[in-house]
Amino acid sequence: MKSFYLTTAIDYVNGSPHLGHAYEKVLSDVIARTKRMQGQDVFFLTGTDEHGQKIQQSARAKGVPTQQFVDETAAEFVQLAKLLNLSNNDFIRTTEPRHKQVVRDCLQQLFDKGEIYKAEYKGFYSPRQEQFLQEKDRLPDGKWPEIFGEVIEITESNYFFKLRAYQQWLIDYITAHEDFVFPAHRRKSLLEFLSEPLNDLCISRPKDRLEWGIPLPFDENYVTYVWFDALLNYYTAVKDNGRWPADFNVIGKDILIPAHGIYWPIMLHALGLPPPKALLVHGWWSVNGAKMSKSTGNFVDPVEFTKTWNVDSLRYFLVREMTVGMDADFSQEQFLVRYNSELANSLGNLVNRTLNMTTRFAAGVVPTAEVTEDPERELQALWPKTRDEFFALCDGFQFHIALERAMQFITATNAYIEKRAPWKLAKDPSPAAQAQLRTTLATIAEALRLGSALLWPVMPAAVDKIRTGLALPPLAQWEGELEWGGRLAGAKLGAVDILFPKPATEKKG
Ligand code: ME8
Ligand code: MG
Repeated sequence: MKSFYLTTAIDYVNGSPHLGHAYEKVLSDVIARTKRMQGQDVFFLTGTDEHGQKIQQSARAKGVPTQQFVDETAAEFVQLAKLLNLSNNDFIRTTEPRHKQVVRDCLQQLFDKGEIYKAEYKGFYSPRQEQFLQEKDRLPDGKWPEIFGEVIEITESNYFFKLRAYQQWLIDYITAHEDFVFPAHRRKSLLEFLSEPLNDLCISRPKDRLEWGIPLPFDENYVTYVWFDALLNYYTAVKDNGRWPADFNVIGKDILIPAHGIYWPIMLHALGLPPPKALLVHGWWSVNGAKMSKSTGNFVDPVEFTKTWNVDSLRYFLVREMTVGMDADFSQEQFLVRYNSELANSLGNLVNRTLNMTTRFAAGVVPTAEVTEDPERELQALWPKTRDEFFALCDGFQFHIALERAMQFITATNAYIEKRAPWKLAKDPSPAAQAQLRTTLATIAEALRLGSALLWPVMPAAVDKIRTGLALPPLAQWEGELEWGGRLAGAKLGAVDILFPKPATEKKG
């Protein structure tokens, strides 16, 4: 069985989870579930990033001990993973002993190999970004950009990792590996960034400035820079089960350069380990056209949202609305448009009609198809085309169009029902009409079985409910499940709660 290892970024626990966090985890879960359905042995990792200045500051601002603060906030992220129905195999927290040990071992190895040296540094520092600044970071008027917050000048001794020594290796690697970064325009930006000389990376923080970190194994007066610590989580989780390198590190666009695109492959290479096979870089959500912000109320809380709606409709919307790699906007109006037209009126309607009409016209038992005429031929021809396009699109991360194709098949099935009008056939006792009626019921059950199977990675709970209604077990894999055939003949259909209740009025999400 092919093994496949996939990770998400690990979220900072300095605040509660938001829609951006939810999206990345759902996108990764959809990929993980897709690969599992294709029969691969998937290991899916997510987790939390719990060290560093921002977290120490947030804990102090709240007046609670830092460990207690991270325990409480990490619990919200663990809870969110459950709520979103993520199929992660592990949840890593960077404050766990297993991770601290790996970070210290890696640092010691690099130190022993001469990849880390101590030097005095004098310069400008942004506590907010936990970053040393350079002259080129200044605005034309000499001021520091707002994102850096208050900038201070400091002199201190620190430990540096020889990033620059590997710059050419990295350029060659990225040049030779077209698939290292998706989408291609991000790979291009990364290579452009690398056309300027890199500085070595300061990987330590003096303990008197920052306590909340992993002490350097070779100098306990310092803790490890948060990125050096955080990136290694992907390795910690699998180092003993032989799954490194990762197939995908899924990340947001803000953390490609320099963290995942430069520090990470170089750290690994210096440690004698291969880089991840690919970085999958997604865009950012805005809300009603503006940057998400708690202070202005322009913020979507995924926990609250799923209380009003349901998890599967949120998952569907996130994947359907965003082109992987591009930005997208979240608005209640657009959510309602998709919810009403695609989930309630198209999919939900097909489920209800299939179950209701089979109950009314065939005592709840799916008949055997008896005739194949134009309406059946058209729908049956659409199926393999839909399925093959769906998989090709998923392979290219075009999940939004893949979902559109699956939904077009559902819509076509609804149109088939209109064409056949079983409610009319039921009133016609002629043998021809009755054969058509039985065929129609068999056809729509089969089409629903197939079409919904494609939707499983995005809406696993809803699809498994549909399958219960069709007297089928939860979907375990796609092999043998995606061919048109009379699979449901003789099945006694059950009842299904309404999957996507139609909202009477707009609810607040
Ligand atoms: O960056 N839309 O953590 P983080 C989409 N701890 N994605 C968004 C988003 C938005 N509006 N806002 C944030 C960190 N994200 C580090 C990662 S990995 C070793 C360490 C994404 O909590 C963001 O791009 O700030 C990132 O991939 C993830 O959420 C966590 O962001
Ligand atoms: Mg961030």
